[in-house]
Amino acid sequence: MIDKEMTEALNGQINKEMYSAYLYMSMSAHSANVGLKGFANWFMVQYHEEMYHAMKLYEYVQRQGEEVKLEAIQAPPAEFSSPLEMFTMTLTHEQFITSSINDLMELAIGKKDHATQIFLEWYVIEQVEEEENDNDIIAQLKIIGDNAHALLMLDRELSGRAANVVTDFSKGVEAAE
Ligand code: FEO
Repeated sequence: MIDKEMTEALNGQINKEMYSAYLYMSMSAHSANVGLKGFANWFMVQYHEEMYHAMKLYEYVQRQGEEVKLEAIQAPPAEFSSPLEMFTMTLTHEQFITSSINDLMELAIGKKDHATQIFLEWYVIEQVEEEENDNDIIAQLKIIGDNAHALLMLDRELSGRAANVVTDFSKGVEAAE
């Protein structure tokens, strides 16, 4: 059982994760357009991760016997000036998501909702990894600067990233894991 306010907040988080997926999908499309297929791959893998984050919440709300309510997803930006700008925006967005997860956790603690606290712990840890990944790539992009050869080497490295989350949600996230 989760109460109405907690349910609404979790539904709100589904929307934020879906927006995250949409944002990274847009960055993937832009990367492909400018010939950076490795960056396009990295962001499309990130898209899958975000869909997985959204679906975990979706499933949790349903397993608690509450109703999933989907809201409109805001349009993401479509133009980016550089890979560094994309990753800087990604980090800023992930920091926003981290603070949103922290707010959810505070709400669950205030309500003595232990099940939701335990559920959210996964997201707390995941956000540390998300921000770390972005910081690592930002640091590399700053070293690369205007060196096109080095940028293409990083692009090749990022082409190796593979999705390691469930991407078929037809049977549910828990069942597929
Ligand atoms: Fe779902 Fe990137 O946080």
